[in-house]
Amino acid sequence: MNIISGSELLLLCAVSQCLESPLEMYSFVPSFTRRCSYTEQTGTPLLVRTLWPATSALAALGMLAEPHFTRHAGAWNMLTAAVCVALLGCLQAQELQGHVSVILLGATGDLARKYLWQGLFQLYLEEAGKGHSFRFHGTALTNTKQGQEIIAKVLESLSCPRDTAPGRCAELKAQFQQLSEYRRLKTPEDYLALSKDIEAWVQHEGLQEAGRIFYFSVPPFAYADIARSINSSCRPGPGAWLRVVLEKPFGHDHRSAQQLATELGSFFQEEEMYRVDHYLGKQVVAQILPFRDQNRKALDGLWNRHHVERVEIIMKETVDAEGRTSFYEEYGVIGDVLQNHLTEILMLVAMELPLDISSSEAVLGHKLQAFRALRGLQRGSAVVGQYQAYRGQVRRELQKPDSFHSLTPTFAGILVHIDNLRWEGVPFILMSGKALDERVGYVRILFKDQAYCAQSEKRWVPAQSHCLPQQIIFYIGHGELGGPAVLVSRNLFRPSLPSASWKEVEGQPGLRLFGRPLSDYYAYSPVREQDAYSILISHIFHRRKDSFIAMENLLASWVFWTPLLDSLAHEVPRLYPGGAENGHLLDFEFSGSHVSFSQPPLEQLVPGPDSAPMPSDFQVLGAKYRDSPLISAWPEELIARLAGDIEAAAVRAVRRFGEFHLALSGGSSPVALFQQLAMGHYGFPWAHTHLWLVDERCVPLWDPESNFQGLQAHLLQHVRVPYYNIHPMPVHRRQRLCAEEDQGAQAYAEEISTLVTNSSFDLVLLGMGTDGHTASLFPQSPVGLDGEQLVVLTTSPSSPRRRMSLSLPVINRARQVAVLVMGRMKREIALLVSRVGREPRKWPISGVRPDSGQLVWYMDYDAFLG
Ligand code: BG6
Repeated sequence: MNIISGSELLLLCAVSQCLESPLEMYSFVPSFTRRCSYTEQTGTPLLVRTLWPATSALAALGMLAEPHFTRHAGAWNMLTAAVCVALLGCLQAQELQGHVSVILLGATGDLARKYLWQGLFQLYLEEAGKGHSFRFHGTALTNTKQGQEIIAKVLESLSCPRDTAPGRCAELKAQFQQLSEYRRLKTPEDYLALSKDIEAWVQHEGLQEAGRIFYFSVPPFAYADIARSINSSCRPGPGAWLRVVLEKPFGHDHRSAQQLATELGSFFQEEEMYRVDHYLGKQVVAQILPFRDQNRKALDGLWNRHHVERVEIIMKETVDAEGRTSFYEEYGVIGDVLQNHLTEILMLVAMELPLDISSSEAVLGHKLQAFRALRGLQRGSAVVGQYQAYRGQVRRELQKPDSFHSLTPTFAGILVHIDNLRWEGVPFILMSGKALDERVGYVRILFKDQAYCAQSEKRWVPAQSHCLPQQIIFYIGHGELGGPAVLVSRNLFRPSLPSASWKEVEGQPGLRLFGRPLSDYYAYSPVREQDAYSILISHIFHRRKDSFIAMENLLASWVFWTPLLDSLAHEVPRLYPGGAENGHLLDFEFSGSHVSFSQPPLEQLVPGPDSAPMPSDFQVLGAKYRDSPLISAWPEELIARLAGDIEAAAVRAVRRFGEFHLALSGGSSPVALFQQLAMGHYGFPWAHTHLWLVDERCVPLWDPESNFQGLQAHLLQHVRVPYYNIHPMPVHRRQRLCAEEDQGAQAYAEEISTLVTNSSFDLVLLGMGTDGHTASLFPQSPVGLDGEQLVVLTTSPSSPRRRMSLSLPVINRARQVAVLVMGRMKREIALLVSRVGREPRKWPISGVRPDSGQLVWYMDYDAFLG
């Protein structure tokens, strides 16, 4: 960029000193400024405009006073000298600010095209008049011609501030375009060449280099190579600064974040790095600390566990992850949004307020303290979901086979607790998701309702009644309000916000927010709405590090989130249809530290003919398996459904007969069912339920291998079943385990005959082995497949080999039989058994056909679809 340099001004001054009279000076000025108007064309009009009036004034003054100056040449000389000294002083002060190069890496990418070029243009508009000179180097791997074309289009689409006249806007854009270039930046030599070009330019223009900003708008895998090249061949010379701007993701867990930090730390100083979380540039988010600061007096007594009922930090989106699944598969909603944007907001709300909120060290220190107080997250702290079309999108975009199931959550609701004196016991709810019903972001601080109002509701006055909700909302944007705002219930206090930048929101009749009309709030919105990236780019330029993520902050966040991510690694998210059709499916509720979905899952998902099912594909599957009803779902949903069905059967039986006889299998599949029954079914009539075993291993009842032991650990110890209603199999009576002479099988059969009407259990829960066995009835073994015996001793092909089992006849006498089949391992046998007839000797499970009762198959997708 050209500016009038000091040497040029000196020349101007020298010439004016040599000129005989002001007249000559007056004719010199236009020719000088003609040269400067050439400068203007190359894009640096602002200094020229500053100097032009001064030089012109000097000449004009000379003209007016010519007779006087002609008589007193000394006075003319003194005047020109004084003006020149003043101009030089002013120019030097501006020149000291020097030349800034902005290198945008990934300049043709999405983020750059949408936000970063506009942010750089804004920077130019704001700063170029203040003495810095700029050039903008857009770079990418794209070849030069194509890159230039893309950049030209982007530059053409830039917009000026709202109050700029069209002609002026075109002029400003033209200047910016002339200062911007595209170049391919790939090899270390390219970086060296760029550095040399910058140096040559600076020298040619007689400038000082102030610094270089490298904005990394590239995927993180490219960071290390770029950082190495910058460090080795593109740092500015001594006296000039370097700033590198990094975009998330910064790792996908604590270990990878640490690794990246160490790697980048070997090329750059921490103070040179600006890690962007663009939510910190959102006007409302950036206002949280100043709001707390400016309203200290009102908030001091309120901002704590005694008054805050709960805090909600929410970012809902309607878009889905289509086109980004390779990124999303790695990060999911937690890595994409919660670990960064929502956590940063959480910190701004929860941290102790430093005395000086403009000190980035103090802010960081207090944030770290708040991080340390976070209670560790556990599996039960989260509910996760996945919109239904996601799996198909992943398969298509990542070329995965049809059998591929992604476990990546696209929705998460998290319950956070902060164990310090201020926040102990206050739930902080963090929630974000794709394909939801609306786009909106907000932080809502809901205060406790601690009042009883003696007056009737119709007489409540919003500003006075303490019975109306009291809340403070930092409305980040979108939603009903359509833009950013800070809202404070009128019955709390009138907040103070900087009046130069925040104005009262005008009433919008009929608009209700969080259950109350807008008129119930003091509501403020920014005088001038600004994009987060423009704000952050300006902060980078002004070295405002408090708007960026320090390394310690980043690592503290990952320490917090990584254990939850690990515990969710194998968790199947709840499927949701997407958009308005989600209904209440994703609502969740919490108690203590535990959060769970409020509603049972949708019954069934029937995949459509193509691999990207639509929301309408959610329906009850009318499918059959071996001519009996089949329920198929993801494991969590399947178990929930089965537990619900068992409870319903129990309630029915108790209502009709006063008791419910339930025979349960052992092994690993029912464990989740037992847990579900224990934790989630408070209406279960346990006091009237008899629990029987379908089969047992011949080990002592306290042995971990014992089926009874599994039942005890996962169910019995959590529910109140009368002892006399619990019926373990008597595998250990007098002699050895399962000794024939002890007659344990006969004793159990007698117990059944005595207590269970017609020996007909109300419900028998079975499993299916990979060899087709069920209960402890094994293939190629005739025992228990027919005949009169209710209970038999059998031999298993695997250890422990001796077993006791209900016989097939007593199983088939049950009113209901449920067969639970889970896991990919069962896929083959499930397929095989679906095709065979009744051949219990080969596949005992195929002999399960209740005489008059009902059989239902419960299979998860892995077992059913593979
Ligand atoms: C980004 C996430 O950080 O934030 C995106 O990667 C998300 O998945 C976006 O859509 C939301 O930002 P904004 O500014 O549109 O609310």
